[in-house]
Amino acid sequence: MLTAKDLTAEEKLRLICGQDGWHTADLGGKIPQITVSDGPVGVRKSEFDENGVWKRDLPAVAYPAIQCLANTWNRSLARKMGKSLADDCLDAEVDVLLAPGVNIKRNPLNGRNFEYFSEDPLLAGTLAYEYIDGLQSGGVGACLKHFLANNQEYNRLEQSSEVDDRTLRELYYVPFEIACRAKPVSAMCCYNRVNGVYGSENKCGFDVLRGEFGFDGVIMSDWGAVHDRAASAKAGLDLEMPFDQGRYEKLCEDYRAGRLTDEELDACAQRMLDFIARVKKMSRGKKAATTVERRLDVAQQIAEEGIVLLKNEGVLPLKKKQSVTVSGECAAPSQYGRVGGGGSACVQWIGERYDLAKCLRAKMKGEVRYHRAFWEYALQEYSDKRELYDSILTSDVNVVCVGTGSTIEREGADRMSVRLTPVQEEMILRTAELNPNTVVVIFAGSAVDVSAWKDKVAAIVLAGFCGERGGEAIARVLTGEVNPSGKLSETFLCKIEDAPTYRSYSDPLVARYSEGLDVGYRHYDKHGLDVNFPFGHGLSYSEFKYGDLSLQVKERSVEVSFSITNRSARAGKEVAQVYVRPYNSYAYRPVRELRGFAKVKTEGGEKKDVSVVLDERAFSYYSTSVRGWVCEDGIYGIEVGASSRDIRLQGLVRCKDGKFEIVK
Ligand code: BGC
Repeated sequence: MLTAKDLTAEEKLRLICGQDGWHTADLGGKIPQITVSDGPVGVRKSEFDENGVWKRDLPAVAYPAIQCLANTWNRSLARKMGKSLADDCLDAEVDVLLAPGVNIKRNPLNGRNFEYFSEDPLLAGTLAYEYIDGLQSGGVGACLKHFLANNQEYNRLEQSSEVDDRTLRELYYVPFEIACRAKPVSAMCCYNRVNGVYGSENKCGFDVLRGEFGFDGVIMSDWGAVHDRAASAKAGLDLEMPFDQGRYEKLCEDYRAGRLTDEELDACAQRMLDFIARVKKMSRGKKAATTVERRLDVAQQIAEEGIVLLKNEGVLPLKKKQSVTVSGECAAPSQYGRVGGGGSACVQWIGERYDLAKCLRAKMKGEVRYHRAFWEYALQEYSDKRELYDSILTSDVNVVCVGTGSTIEREGADRMSVRLTPVQEEMILRTAELNPNTVVVIFAGSAVDVSAWKDKVAAIVLAGFCGERGGEAIARVLTGEVNPSGKLSETFLCKIEDAPTYRSYSDPLVARYSEGLDVGYRHYDKHGLDVNFPFGHGLSYSEFKYGDLSLQVKERSVEVSFSITNRSARAGKEVAQVYVRPYNSYAYRPVRELRGFAKVKTEGGEKKDVSVVLDERAFSYYSTSVRGWVCEDGIYGIEVGASSRDIRLQGLVRCKDGKFEIVK
């Protein structure tokens, strides 16, 4: 195997700059080439003409967005999605998938929230770990992105995220830290600056990644995120993507002038060689293990578990004999971008576009009518009002499909509002006024302010960006073939003014993370703010009873055991969440923080025992004085909940001199 010593300086300089948009340099055939492709929700591989001009994106399985995957809270589904994506990559001859993105949903307006997992770092990191492990065990490399503190799209190329060290350690690094345990072959830096320094030159961050989190892959740039190639290589950025002639020439000039030492160049080149060898070894002899049809089934399964039943006043599940009017374009999208996000994560569906009314018709005995009626984001009045109103009035149930789509949620820009468009809100209110049996299905990739209409409708279902099998998945949830089990991976706030970022957002140059640790539910809990639907919330057609809490000290950890009883006749799944709540602490601590969770399947009437282990870190904070994790002496509440605001069981633990003891 070649080492950096076997390459000339010119070859090494070439190797750390990439070949073109989607390949690493092969040095005239001397070394193998790696093909990379976006992105988290499907393989976005493009076709180019003989002059290298883009022709089209090739169709691929469009899985639910990462937001929807996160709403499943299901580790094995995250792994399955990774594994299934590996097969898509093997078919498309892609060596490394540029995914997953694990940035924290700090700002509800962030245009890329649909590509990210959660406002909570434990949930984001845990699911990312499984996704990466699934992908890489299937023979394809992962790329953990966007490192670091890339939490908005607004002015993303220039803006600086000003974040204190403790906040970085306790929130923004954590998903990367956890995901690194799956040994991703690569990571991608962010566009933005972190405390004034471009993400591509974030030496301190790269050192943490490699030195503390055990990351041993290559760090590549986001596309065009390099400003000074020599400076970025010095910081430890191994690969600039895509290739840029001007910057490459400047790099060579800087090298000759001694601005980049041989040692520094060798370090990047060697990591590139190791990466290429590792990735090629990973896929050696591997062929897709599943058919496209099976992968579409995986997409459907994720959607079925990622759909969140936010509110239900008994109208759901639908009864077979009921007549239903479905309205809104999201129910039968004329383009896939209507029910998905835009930018590098936008995938051209491989299958047919779905039609929710058609999927429902196949399951219902009553009549199911469909009216396109209105566009989801164009401020356009619906035309067939009369007919539509008749239909609404005479149906047993109305299903109004609303959402955002790729012109609102996309890369490169943030949303202007967390509310739906006025036409959509009006449509919901009008429908509910005509017929109170109104169910709203939301197709959006991030939090929506539902305040204007929440109390007027009988049920609310968050479909999310649920991928190309979403139509069938929603129909199965609405009719009760699937018992909903998704829970919110981000808070549904009451109004944008409540958001932790509201006051610090508008500066185009600096994003001051002045809220510190209080992001997402940590923020709403600290300020006692009402929310429409809390983090972790999600209903089921079953009722689950929590009981039998018992805490046990096991060396330096605490085992939290409890039972969940399904008090309904049907099988269901419940996501139980374990929060730690410090009661007396010298250091500032959020009210409660998620420290463990379990998704538990029960048959109707069944009782199951659950246990979640909390290690010392679950009780610790990051001290900038000792530059490490500190588990303070004191009392800690252990809260087991069905959501962050529906705590069902509580216990108390004391920590003294690094030892735990159960108080209650
Ligand atoms: C995005 C990355 C993506 C890359 C390649 C960038 O604009 O930020 O997430 O992987 O483009 O498409």
